Amino acid sequence: MEKMIRIFDTTLRDGEQSPGCSMNLEEKIVMAKQLEALKVDIIEAGFAIASPGDFRSVKEIARVIKDSAVASLSRTLEKDIWSSYEALKDAVSPRIHTFIATSDIHMKYKLKQTPDEVVESAVAGVKYAKRFISDVEFSCEDATRSRKEFLYRIIRDVIDAGATVINIPDTVGYATPFEMFNLVKDVRENVPNIHKAQISVHCHNDLGLGVANSLYAVLAGADQVECTMNGIGERAGNASLEEIVMALATRRDYYNAITRLDTTQIMKASKLLTSITGVAVQPNKAIVGANAFSHEAGIHQHGMLENRSTYEIMTPESVGLNVSKMVLGKHSGRHAFKDRIVSLGYELSDEEIDAAFKEFKILADKKKQVFDEDIVSIIERDDQNDQEFTLEKFDIVSRKDRPSEATIWVRKQNESMEAVENGDGPVDASFKAVEKIVGKEIELLDYTLHSITEGQDAMGKATVKIKSGEYTYNGKGVSTDVVEASIKAFIDAINRSMKNGKKHEERMTI
Ligand code: KIV
Ligand code: ZN
Repeated sequence: MEKMIRIFDTTLRDGEQSPGCSMNLEEKIVMAKQLEALKVDIIEAGFAIASPGDFRSVKEIARVIKDSAVASLSRTLEKDIWSSYEALKDAVSPRIHTFIATSDIHMKYKLKQTPDEVVESAVAGVKYAKRFISDVEFSCEDATRSRKEFLYRIIRDVIDAGATVINIPDTVGYATPFEMFNLVKDVRENVPNIHKAQISVHCHNDLGLGVANSLYAVLAGADQVECTMNGIGERAGNASLEEIVMALATRRDYYNAITRLDTTQIMKASKLLTSITGVAVQPNKAIVGANAFSHEAGIHQHGMLENRSTYEIMTPESVGLNVSKMVLGKHSGRHAFKDRIVSLGYELSDEEIDAAFKEFKILADKKKQVFDEDIVSIIERDDQNDQEFTLEKFDIVSRKDRPSEATIWVRKQNESMEAVENGDGPVDASFKAVEKIVGKEIELLDYTLHSITEGQDAMGKATVKIKSGEYTYNGKGVSTDVVEASIKAFIDAINRSMKNGKKHEERMTI
């Protein structure tokens, strides 16, 4: 019989804590709802004690998600576990995920604890978590560089203490597929009470083996795989959810394993994440890359026309591509627009829908077809009510061989402020003018621009990363005019820095 593999998604925790991928509360909720629609088994919503913002996100996600379990990460410290418990109280299926490092190198240099002390903290942490929540996952951080005998001991003891899931992370992406296979097999064979818990793996991608290592772990008997959408995560990222899930679905014959995921929601989840973070996936990325289902070579196209299975091992429809859906346009009414917003996972008030519908009509006049990505960007754009600065208008003169000139009008509450600056191109001139208005020195660390829909009338999305003081902030802006998108992104980043500047949250990551 095929084995059911549980998918534990950590996009909102391990993924979100990687540079450039941070999300605000509303964005996390929208993403969590899409993960629920995808039917992931567990959503790791955050690391509750890391900051008040993380706590709020876990709490809110725990409140709104009903069909997936919701987990919060904690060290083995009581204050972490208590914070996770407080944040998870309203969840239908809460899970406390607690971890401690088990490799000699981490115990000695990071924790400065002896192996005995580490076992003691792990057991105490699991026992404490068990007082509040029955579903407790324990992770042996840096498991793949830990001594096996020590792993068997700590795993046995935490299962005795009540752990229901044992996670074996390849924290630094060091393992090879055979090593991962053997590690899972050895844990199964050498931990006497392992039958009382599920085995999970969590593989990072430093050597590009995150997915391969996870799949080998499944072959060795792992019950749960931890992964992220688009493979985002620390450094080179985590094992990518879409690749693991589609590998299991496409090669059922080989892995003899299935998941409960609705794979037709994959594309939507991937695009939503890209749209929220501004971090694009490479075109040749398996499953969700722009070229993943396009056939360029003549011989391939010929074969495809004769019979799709000549060059297609899974259908685009199976991941939610080409699922024919009515495209909205200028004749679409408020009702159809509202329906689409709801199906995209947003909950907006009537006033918010009215405002977004107005913007939609303006856009539909400029573009023949309005895609889901356009609608997402309208909704995100509308979320500007509590912003310190908003772009009012601009006037740009751009010319070859002479500096560009930008005149920018920015509104701050009821005051309209204007500045004129020259620069090396329209974007540079505009950013300088905004900087002058804001009266702050801003270091631009990164700037990207890409189109989020197809065609000449596509919406452009700009993403900027700025440094203000000792912190970095991302901003994004969307428009059919790429200069406008760029200015908005710059102002968005400045607004985020202003908000945080007033009350900067220290955030702990692991
Ligand atoms: O990579 C890792 O070891 C982790 C653990 C906290 C599970 O993210
Ligand atoms: Zn990790």
